[in-house]
Amino acid sequence: MKLLEGKVAIVTGAARGIGAAIALKLAEQGAHIAFTYVSDSSADKAAVLEAEIKKLGVNAKAYKANAADFGACEILVNDVLTNFGAIDICVNNAGISKDNLLLRMTAEQWDEVMDTNLKSVFNMTKQVIRPMMKAKSGSIINMSSIIGIRGNAGQSSYAASKAGIIGFTKSIALELGSRNIRCNAIAPGFIETDMTHYLNEGEAGKAFLDKIPLGRFGKAEEIANTTLYLASELSSYVTGQVISACGGLNI
Ligand code: NAI
Repeated sequence: MKLLEGKVAIVTGAARGIGAAIALKLAEQGAHIAFTYVSDSSADKAAVLEAEIKKLGVNAKAYKANAADFGACEILVNDVLTNFGAIDICVNNAGISKDNLLLRMTAEQWDEVMDTNLKSVFNMTKQVIRPMMKAKSGSIINMSSIIGIRGNAGQSSYAASKAGIIGFTKSIALELGSRNIRCNAIAPGFIETDMTHYLNEGEAGKAFLDKIPLGRFGKAEEIANTTLYLASELSSYVTGQVISACGGLNI
């Protein structure tokens, strides 16, 4: 018996990187996968991933939906319920960074990061708790970051959005625990994806590497494994928690 046999999971921002690894990992364990992408340029990648997931013997469908847009999330969740009949797991993974020192940061950059990283989590969670409350079961997993715990110079908007996710996660766990809906966050360290391509380019990356006890950057699949734990009954007594998957990073 697979860990997520017959469950339905929705994963935001999954055309590439950590989201794609999560979609594949949950599908390998028997979950049907609805996932989103936002830009037309990701449509081809999303189609390839959809086909790859279907080869694992589960249903899969890619949806073009902006997680930062409340109305789009409402439509998305209704569509997923029509197509899949349930939502058991929601992984709020979509995120961006617009790194800049506060002196140079514009209000537009701040808003874009907060809307994409934090408001998106509200948008999706607000919608998915309806079917989860009816089913008296659900697991919501929010992608925070070690930067949301520690802060980082040049990343104030990103850090604030990821710290906000932690406060939101803990509050929803308190609100919905009695309904058997769990809500947890993951705080990845530095994971090799498009978002962190700069890590392999010179001094900045090396400086971070020196601070990681495990001596390497993480892989998207390692965050997918943590997500699988939180999505499945392996974590049935875990809610309101932040799991750091960061190689012991201490910045
Ligand atoms: P990525 O940039 O490779 O992937 C992010 C995905 O989110 C992309 O597919 C992008 O199209 C999508 N996305 C962006 N805005 C969206 C929107 N408005 N609606 C729907 N989808 C949207 O980044 P990566 O590394 O895979 O990051 C995934 C999550 O993990 C993000 O929330 C990121 O902040 C978080 N994270 C990543 C770390 C890393 O080292 N890579 C470390 C800590 C957290």
